[in-house]
Amino acid sequence: MADRRRVAVLISGRGSNMRALIEAADGYEVVLVASNRIHAPGLDAARGLGVPTFAFEAGRDAFEAALQRALDDHRIGTIALAGYMRILSPGFIARWRGRIVNIHPSLLPRHKGLDTHRRVLAAGETVTGCTVHLVNEDLDSGDVLAQAEVPVEPGDDATRLAARVLNAEHVLYPKALSEFVSR
Ligand code: GRF
Repeated sequence: MADRRRVAVLISGRGSNMRALIEAADGYEVVLVASNRIHAPGLDAARGLGVPTFAFEAGRDAFEAALQRALDDHRIGTIALAGYMRILSPGFIARWRGRIVNIHPSLLPRHKGLDTHRRVLAAGETVTGCTVHLVNEDLDSGDVLAQAEVPVEPGDDATRLAARVLNAEHVLYPKALSEFVSR
């Protein structure tokens, strides 16, 4: 049985949550950063932090097959999605059931999917936040592990609100992952 404290972080982009997960690791270790985008900026950041990377651009099935081999090689027990912008296949999710977590920039179940901050503002909400949850076959619908609230301030636009929520994500995600791997 793989050690659930050995974590792979999956990214597609800048990887600021990935960095937070690496730098604030407590009770787990990020032993691999994997990406479906070979030029994802987060890959350079991971290498700079001394974490091995795996990057491969291919169709979903081929990518996931190669990813599975990399996860096996590194004896990964937990997968943390951090801005991974491709829906995982039902087969991959079934294989990793209960061992994939994600962070989402809203207070789920409100605002599943993309463009959350614009929708929060359009709805006139005064509180938003972020959610760490288990991944299942339905988008942004798995069991909630942890949430943090963030105020919407007068005059916010989506960019300002996103930055405030992102700061909260960087605190919440490492803490939630520590609790998850030790439970
Ligand atoms: C974050 O807002 C996260 O909640 C969402 O995608 C964004 C990734 O940002 N899932 P980064 O790549 O971690 O900076």
